[in-house]
Amino acid sequence: MMRPAALALPAGAAPGTDPAARPPAGPSAGSAATPPAASSSYAASRRRLETYFDRTARDAWEKLTSDAPVSGIRATVRAGRDAMRATLLGWLPADMRGLRLLDAGCGTGSLAVAAARRGATVVAIDVAGGLIDIARDRAPADVAIDWRVGDMLDPALGRFDHVVAMDSLIHYRAEDIVATAAALAARTHGALLLTFAPQTPALKAMHLVGKLFPRGNRAPAIIPVREALVRRRLAAALPAHRVARDARIGTGFYTSHAIELVRA
Ligand SMILES: C[S@@+](CC[C@H](N)C(=O)[O-])C[C@H]1O[C@@H](n2cnc3c(N)ncnc32)[C@H](O)[C@@H]1O
Repeated sequence: MMRPAALALPAGAAPGTDPAARPPAGPSAGSAATPPAASSSYAASRRRLETYFDRTARDAWEKLTSDAPVSGIRATVRAGRDAMRATLLGWLPADMRGLRLLDAGCGTGSLAVAAARRGATVVAIDVAGGLIDIARDRAPADVAIDWRVGDMLDPALGRFDHVVAMDSLIHYRAEDIVATAAALAARTHGALLLTFAPQTPALKAMHLVGKLFPRGNRAPAIIPVREALVRRRLAAALPAHRVARDARIGTGFYTSHAIELVRA
């Protein structure tokens, strides 16, 4: 991935403007097992993301998630992501000793490390094994994290006190985001924190432009979804849960919306 800015558009920055930002549409490695309950569109997205983050975007993602200097656009994405991570961590207990947390789609592992530093027992899973390698190499020696390569919906992961899916569902359709949230919430005693790419007029326009040019490399990486739609579908799929908090981070080329789901 030569142009990480848009890969780094983990929500917001005019998806569709940077072909290099988009997961490839072609065949993929697809090594992780597809969870039994996953839809075919979920499985297809997951396979594309595995290829993308493991191969095309690995180096760019490594750089974006490091302290290495990045260009202005990418710096705004990094700043937005830092703000989002801080927001999500702010919604978790300060003392997490005795609590089990799943970092679902952990990437290079920053949130997992922060939770482990608070004392949580952390399982961090990503479908891209290359990112897990980076996460494992980067993790400080004094934190113990159970790094896994695979699908966040794998039932074998067990139950958790808290689950966080930061920007790992932004490439999925609304119905798959909601189905994933429902599956994860059923295994979570406490809070399920997830983010989605909110549909703004600019993002909607870019998405439509992408559809006008349906070549594989023009498919937008990020699927913007309407906040009201997500809320309505979550309420229908999870009647025993409620949205306790939400926050939208918009900094330059990064826009992402976080919600905290808890049992009602
Ligand atoms: C935009 S990155 C965000 C990574 C990390 N959460 C962060 O904020 O730095 C999205 C990550 O989700 C992972 N991912 C997407 N779908 C997944 C799935 N079904 N199971 C596990 N990981 C997944 C991708 O491989 C990618 O590393």
